[in-house]
Amino acid sequence: MSFTVAIDGPAAAGKGTLSRAVAGAFGFRHLDTGLLYRATGMRVLDGLDPVAAAEALVPSDLEREGLRSAEAAAEASRAAAIPGVRAALLAFQRDFARDPDGAVLDGRDIGTVICPEAEVKLFVTARAEIRARRRFEELRAGGAETQFETVLADVRERDARDMDRADAPLRPAKDAVVLDTSDLTIAEATARAVQIVASRR
Ligand code: C5P
Repeated sequence: MSFTVAIDGPAAAGKGTLSRAVAGAFGFRHLDTGLLYRATGMRVLDGLDPVAAAEALVPSDLEREGLRSAEAAAEASRAAAIPGVRAALLAFQRDFARDPDGAVLDGRDIGTVICPEAEVKLFVTARAEIRARRRFEELRAGGAETQFETVLADVRERDARDMDRADAPLRPAKDAVVLDTSDLTIAEATARAVQIVASRR
């Protein structure tokens, strides 16, 4: 029997960390669905049309260099507003969610569109300044030269685009548990997420 955990929320809220922790704690497989949109964005940067780019994705695209860059993120969020792109990526995500070992998917529309029947839905969020600070430190640790204000502006722009689009906008599902990580340590946030999943198993 499959068991699906949907983890949604804005950029840099801690979805990735929590998803990996939940997957590890229960032996579930994990899919970072943002990578599908980033890989699409990379192919757009290569010169492809966004819908053709999404339709042409192959597994090795998810391992390309540069997927975590700000350029790939910006291109991803533009492509993500196009219904044909979202449609092209739907079946792969739904198949993944049906993994008999259990699955954790993180993204923006997992609980609302991709897996409305998920057994657990978490909406992970944090204040924009805090998310930008985390992303800034991550980028700096990776050797990127950037300013905090630039990262904050990027986060705000991406939030606005993700929340305002007509197709699958970012918002909590009606039955999602909202987890604000602004004032939590990683250990605290992780413990809470694992506890919520454990209570539904
Ligand atoms: O999560 P990540 O920052 O890697 O996602 C990059 C972009 O992909 C997001 O800003 C969003 O526009 C898009 N995305 C989406 N739906 C998802 C996952 C990501 O629209 N399920």
